[in-house]
Amino acid sequence: MGIVKNLFAGAWLLPAAYGAFSTSVAKGLASHADASSTTSGSYSQFTIPSSADFGAKLIPNVVDPEAVDAQSVCPGYKASNVKESARGLTATLTLAGEPCNVYGTDVDSLDFSIEYLANDRLNVQIVPTYLDSSNSSWFVLDEHVVPRPTSNHHASKKNSDLEITWSNHPSFHFKVTRKATRDAIFDTTGSVLVFENQFVEFVTSLPKDYNLYGIGEHIQQLRLLNNLTLTLYASDIGDPINDNLYGSQPFYLDTRYYEVNHKGHHTLIANDKADQSKNYVSFSHGVFSRNAHGQEIVLNPEGLNIDLTFYSGPSQVDVTKNYQLSTIGLPALQQYFTLGYHQCRWGYNNWTELAEVVANFEKFEIPLETIWNDIDYMHGYRDFDNDQHRYPYSEGEEFLEKLHSSGRHYVPIIDAAIYIPNPENASDAYDTYSRGHKDDVFLKNPDGSEYIGAVWPGYTVFPDWHNPKAGDFWANEIVTWHKKVAIDGIWIDMNEVSSFCVGSCGSGNLSMNPAHPPFSLPGEPGNVLYDYPEGFEITNKTEAASASAAASSQAAAAATGGAPPSSSTSYLRTTPTAGVRNVNYPPYVINNDQDVHDLSAHAVSPNATHSDGVQEYDVHNLFGHQILNATYQGLLKVDKKKRPFIIGRSTFAGSGKWAGHWGGDNASRWAFMFFSIPQALSFSLFGIPMFGVDTCGFNGNSDEELCNRWMQLSAFFPFYRNHNTLSATPQEPYVWESVTAATKSAMKIRYAILPYFYTLFHEAHTTGSTVMRALAWEFPTDPSLAAVDTQFLVGPSIMVVPVLAPQATSVKGVFPSLKHGEVWYDWYTQTAVDAKPGVNTTIPAPLGHIPVFVRGGSVLPMQEPALTTKEARGTPWSLLVALGGNGAALGQLHLDDGESNALDESLDVSFKVKGSSLRASAKGHWEESNPLATVTVLGVSEKPHSVRFNGRHVPASGVHYNATSQVLSVGDLHKLTKEGAFSENWTLNW
Ligand code: GLC
Repeated sequence: MGIVKNLFAGAWLLPAAYGAFSTSVAKGLASHADASSTTSGSYSQFTIPSSADFGAKLIPNVVDPEAVDAQSVCPGYKASNVKESARGLTATLTLAGEPCNVYGTDVDSLDFSIEYLANDRLNVQIVPTYLDSSNSSWFVLDEHVVPRPTSNHHASKKNSDLEITWSNHPSFHFKVTRKATRDAIFDTTGSVLVFENQFVEFVTSLPKDYNLYGIGEHIQQLRLLNNLTLTLYASDIGDPINDNLYGSQPFYLDTRYYEVNHKGHHTLIANDKADQSKNYVSFSHGVFSRNAHGQEIVLNPEGLNIDLTFYSGPSQVDVTKNYQLSTIGLPALQQYFTLGYHQCRWGYNNWTELAEVVANFEKFEIPLETIWNDIDYMHGYRDFDNDQHRYPYSEGEEFLEKLHSSGRHYVPIIDAAIYIPNPENASDAYDTYSRGHKDDVFLKNPDGSEYIGAVWPGYTVFPDWHNPKAGDFWANEIVTWHKKVAIDGIWIDMNEVSSFCVGSCGSGNLSMNPAHPPFSLPGEPGNVLYDYPEGFEITNKTEAASASAAASSQAAAAATGGAPPSSSTSYLRTTPTAGVRNVNYPPYVINNDQDVHDLSAHAVSPNATHSDGVQEYDVHNLFGHQILNATYQGLLKVDKKKRPFIIGRSTFAGSGKWAGHWGGDNASRWAFMFFSIPQALSFSLFGIPMFGVDTCGFNGNSDEELCNRWMQLSAFFPFYRNHNTLSATPQEPYVWESVTAATKSAMKIRYAILPYFYTLFHEAHTTGSTVMRALAWEFPTDPSLAAVDTQFLVGPSIMVVPVLAPQATSVKGVFPSLKHGEVWYDWYTQTAVDAKPGVNTTIPAPLGHIPVFVRGGSVLPMQEPALTTKEARGTPWSLLVALGGNGAALGQLHLDDGESNALDESLDVSFKVKGSSLRASAKGHWEESNPLATVTVLGVSEKPHSVRFNGRHVPASGVHYNATSQVLSVGDLHKLTKEGAFSENWTLNW
């Protein structure tokens, strides 16, 4: 039996507000003694030493040989006072023996409740009975920040898909069973419940070879591995594999495949026992742990531990929709332009350089929709403040006017931290800080002083989202700055929330004015980038050899410079003190992936205190979520009619309501191009469909081959942006000839299917469906697809099989459901693919070619590719009809002005093919004036005698039929649709 086990250094309901402040602050200050100093003007400029970002040396529990297994020493609970109703159950859980106090103080009495929220949704809660016991208050997650799942009136135990049973023998445990399969989907039998003030653990069993997905944010394959510890703690770190990352998404999907016999009995099958000749069914359920604390989920053949809403599906589509609709909220509707191509890099030095980049795109005729700015534009890296030498407002105004009139857009970065100036230097005054300070909206130390960390600008403070005035402060800064720089969206970064030193290191030190982060920036001495993608040594032998030699001497020089400082030689282990929380060093140490694992390392420390007394410890994982909300509200203050466009780094369950997400600091390596696919698919499950990664790679240098493949792959991701780190060699698509060509060829497809993409986004926004999809979700009866993440679908109809390795000229891919009559058409040849069911088929894919397939049964609405989305939207329509094995096809189109919040002016067109006729029926008020030009039908087996559009003959000159490819193309339709392609309902017969 496989078990998943979840442990966390806190629960969703924990006591708050004990001050244990001094340790980390003292460390931050002490290290200043050996800080290097430079002089700027009359003020000494310190660089905070890297040791200030280290913290105490901790050993994560999961690898600590001395760690006590709570399961072996804790007494568990007994349920009493059980009250059952048609909608659920309540009981009291009392500690069943002596408290074990293993990683905190045991809670002696808990309230257990089960609520059948809907027939396909169930909630289980375990909360301390005395929310105000032993001089502590308990932290309760705010429902306005993280909503509870909704319930509906008709729900009942009787009608639920799921059933819960419980028992006290040998101690309290419970089991959730799916009635249809009699299968336990969550079962804590054989484990004890541990509930302490800083630690909660429970263990559930899983089937052997489970198919689990989600639990973010991590860089990992789509289907989670066995034997894996997944830590959830928002961390500013460049994309380590399997470790905790920027966001926290405590949600998983569990898919199980069954064989059904003639009596209707379901037998669970193991993944490796699946047989292509047999038929299977699958049942998926989702589990959301409404918990913002640091958590750890240990997946191993013995042990999951979570708090819990169950979504019974039974399909992934049902689970994902239910999760969003009832609990976390539906994703923001994106503006049409955001689906165009975005170009970014760290190191665009001034407006002139930005203008050159735009000009290059024009010169090479590569579509460019949005040009982005990294922190280079800022004055001393301060938010809402332009560097007047490099990015003066007046020149910006001209630049933006020209950019906007070409139909393009501009999105700059805004960091979470706010510079705090040196009070002794009047010329250092910074209005944003002064306004926030006056309103008292920044996070505090436990003693009430401002918490002062360090980020790019030097010492910084951090908005306190619990302060009722913080939202207005943030919105006002956005509105004020927008008057100077007409931005079209905001890129929110460093919102984990990151800080480059442990504790309030700036307290008492503001006169030191650190001008530089405590680590060298890419390109600086000791950090010159000599890294290239795998395969570079084959394609660029000489350059690779010299880069490798230079890298070795840089590494050797670093080694003689001495080992990085470590705060101590032995590990700091803390033991619980009765009733007292140690927030900076909880007794249970999660495997936080910063050096030495300290929760305060490279982040605001857990004891930073909010205006309502809540410590950062309880809400660390929500900072990213709340700044995204504040930014969304701020952009609405700029223009209440426009849908805010935000891309953020740290997210939580529900952040999709306000923002999209990018995959953070990946590297220019082939592995990261692959990982972009499972990362995107996981964010589909988390309700954040607007996802993409730094195309061509962020850290290190990219090269022609990788960038060629990656520009093509990302063309099929919802958010399509190329971004690069400071000093890395340029990687805009026009840098290499072959990349220019490859990019243009993939963009031709992307821009043609923009209406399809946009329709998918509208559907995601209204129903919770996904945009990028795993094969397993579209074909739920085929167990062999459960782990496929090297190919994917955009919506239901487009399948992409990218090359993910260097030096390849072909790629292997599967064509799902062939045995059930599915037909796949090659995008380029428009002919049906000749492949065998279940066989990994070799597909030719020379450099510059990305295999794309259209699923039979689809109608894709398209316009003509163009250099901007605005231009594309002004072109005639065409439809690509890919007939299914049964000759049928369906499609959808949603249209509106593409930017406003008022969605009543819209048009929804549905397309349906039956026999040899295509019917288009439109509903709504949006007036679409572009005519219909062409309808292309794939899979037409015989030459039609005549073709009629709404009963009228289409002249023979407009009709082309190719008997070999079986493609029927009907052109010249614009003459018949002068009033607009969908101004009236029509039928095309052939
Ligand atoms: C962070 C971001 C990265 C950005 C850099 C400088 O590392 O993740 O995208 O370029 O900061 O702002």
